[in-house]
Amino acid sequence: MSWAYRARQFWARMRAASRAIDDRAARRVLPRDALALYVRMSPGDRQHALQVLERLRAEGSWPNSVEQAALLHDVGKVGARLTLAHRTLVVLLQALPPASLARLAGDGTPAWRHPFFVQLHHAELGATLCAQAGCPPETVSLVRAHQGDDHAALAPEWRAAGAALHRADERS
Ligand SMILES: [Fe+2]
Ligand SMILES: [Fe+2]
Repeated sequence: MSWAYRARQFWARMRAASRAIDDRAARRVLPRDALALYVRMSPGDRQHALQVLERLRAEGSWPNSVEQAALLHDVGKVGARLTLAHRTLVVLLQALPPASLARLAGDGTPAWRHPFFVQLHHAELGATLCAQAGCPPETVSLVRAHQGDDHAALAPEWRAAGAALHRADERS
C-alpha cells in the first residue's frame, strides 16, 4: 500500500475523530466485557473499527466472533497515549524500512518509546486484552494475526476470515 494512501487514511481518521460516532453496530455485536474494552478506544480508532466491520460485512456474512475481531483488532492501542505527533510519525515511518519503527520502539522504555512500542506490538497486546475480556479463541487469534497478510498461524477454518479482515483493515 502506498504511503500517500496511508496518509489519506490517516487524515480521514483524524477528521472522523472530531465527529460524533454512532456506536450502535458495536453494541449489537460485542458482549458486555468486550464492549467495555471497545469503548476505551479513541474516537478515531472506534470510527476505523466500525468501518472495518462495514467492509467485512460487504464481503459476506461472518460469525459473531469474526465481527468481534473486526471491532477489536486495534484495541491493543488502548492506553498507548498515541498523540497526533506519534501517529503522524508512524505514518511517515511506514515509508521507511520496518526496522526504523522497531528501533524507535526499543523495549518500550523510557516513556517516550512506549507509544511506538505499542504501535509495533498492538496486535499481540490486543489479543491479550481480548482473551482477558472473555472473547472467543478465534477472535483472539484473528486480532493477533491482523497486521500481517500471512495467516498460516490461524486454524485453517479461520484463514479466509483472517484474509478478509486484513483486506478490510487495509482499506479503512
Ligand atoms: Fe492494527
Ligand atoms: Fe486497523
